[in-house]
Amino acid sequence: MEDIDKEKLPHHIAIIMDGNGRWAKKKLLNRISGHVKGVNAVREVITACRELGIKVLTLYAFSIENWKRPAEEVDALMGLLKEYLQKECEEMVQNNIRLNVIGRIEDLPPDVQTTLRETMEKTRQDDGMILNLALSYGGRSEILHAVQGILADFQRGKVKPEEITVQRFSQCLWTRGIPDPDLLIRTSGEFRISNFLLWQIAYTELYVTDTLWPDFDRQELLKAIADYQSRERRFGLTSEQLNGREE
Ligand code: FPP
Repeated sequence: MEDIDKEKLPHHIAIIMDGNGRWAKKKLLNRISGHVKGVNAVREVITACRELGIKVLTLYAFSIENWKRPAEEVDALMGLLKEYLQKECEEMVQNNIRLNVIGRIEDLPPDVQTTLRETMEKTRQDDGMILNLALSYGGRSEILHAVQGILADFQRGKVKPEEITVQRFSQCLWTRGIPDPDLLIRTSGEFRISNFLLWQIAYTELYVTDTLWPDFDRQELLKAIADYQSRERRFGLTSEQLNGREE
């Protein structure tokens, strides 16, 4: 069991869940079986985060680029998502978990949109943990969407260029109201950001593990948190400044 300090937990953990396909290939199964197993890992990690007291968990479940995958795989992923939400909604309410979605929700099949909206509505009051699902998500699209919103406000005379601060811009993103991630985990060994939370990860600690997503479990999560806790987050300052020993 990894030793973690309950007083220094990351507030917000974001995860790039990668490696479902490779997991399936290794087991001579089809890619969809990898996603099915991936859903079990999703369930385990949500439970572990909730029990630990993590306040926000963002999962990269489907990128804008993922629409280019074979239709059969896209359909299976949408089906798994809908099934998951329908099965877990009651438990989310019981466990005080609020669902939030970032991304182009309007791109999703209408029945999936309906299930997402119903789940968000049913969990609206829950304030134990936010489960933030990135669906049809792309970081560049999110930034463009924010710029378009700001330009529209500018045209209506509602904002002046000098009023556009980092804080104001952040409030125009899909993640508005949610603090930036403290820890970003990527599974299956690739050192890439893949268009995820481009603006929000400016000072996020990155953790990459070779473990494939379907094998990622509570123990792996604790390992990632222990690694995060071993780091010194300086946010551009010197160590001395941080420790109140400025020379
Ligand atoms: C990446 O593996 C994974 C995805 C593109 C989908 C992630 C989705 C799930 C885990 C299931 C649905 C989610 C929820 C929230 C119920 P990959 O297929 O790119 O793997 P590969 O790189 O090994 O091919």
